[in-house]
Amino acid sequence: MGALLTLGLLAALLASGSALRCEECFAFATACSGPVLPCDPGEGACVSGVGHYTLGEGRTLSVAVRSCLEPSSCSQRHFSLTFRPGVAMRMNFTCCHQDGCNTGVVELPSVSSTTNGRSCPSCFVEGADHCDHMTPLPCTGEEDHCFEFTGTITAGNASLTKSSAGCAAPGACRKRVGVTKYARGVFDTLTQAVCYPAPRDEL
Ligand SMILES: *[C@@H]1O[C@H](CO)[C@@H](O)[C@H](O)[C@H]1NC(C)=O
Ligand SMILES: *[C@@H]1O[C@H](CO)[C@@H](O)[C@H](O)[C@H]1NC(C)=O
Repeated sequence: MGALLTLGLLAALLASGSALRCEECFAFATACSGPVLPCDPGEGACVSGVGHYTLGEGRTLSVAVRSCLEPSSCSQRHFSLTFRPGVAMRMNFTCCHQDGCNTGVVELPSVSSTTNGRSCPSCFVEGADHCDHMTPLPCTGEEDHCFEFTGTITAGNASLTKSSAGCAAPGACRKRVGVTKYARGVFDTLTQAVCYPAPRDEL
């Protein structure tokens, strides 16, 4: 009995000792903070991410998240997309592997407004699965690829379904059809994902 109890205690100690601990929080804001909690088995990484949508007419949506994550879902994933002048999104996620390591500030990628001599067909339709009209969009800064993405981004209890096209920084071209998990509760579900180098404008 005593030996069993000791063994049980030892197992519990070992189990809790081996679990990674990460800060856990989520907010529709530019930053969040929360308690440092043990991860589930299999969640061998801590992630911290920020996202920012500019939706036109002065509407913006910020998301900040910190959580445990499976290492297979982890990578440095920063990207920016521009759908129309003034309608854009930027995201950055970083992973780390030590207890409580995801407490630092994550920078949003900056996008220069200087045109780069390339352009892409562009559109942005909320709640639709295709774009009817494409408008040529001059690309700026490092956004030298064209994309066409259709799908739903889910962050906590909010989701945004959209069909979109425009200029992207090359990091966005890693996106694939299917579900990409960025953090607990933050998913991108794509039904269409096309990306190619933006053609140069004819002089
Ligand atoms: C993403 O965030 C990390 C951590 O703050 C930072 O080192 C990196 O420069 C950021 N990437 C971009 C493209 O801003
Ligand atoms: C979603 O969650 C946020 C933060 O917890 C809350 O402020 C908001 O009211 C919720 N929205 C809905 C539609 O439940």
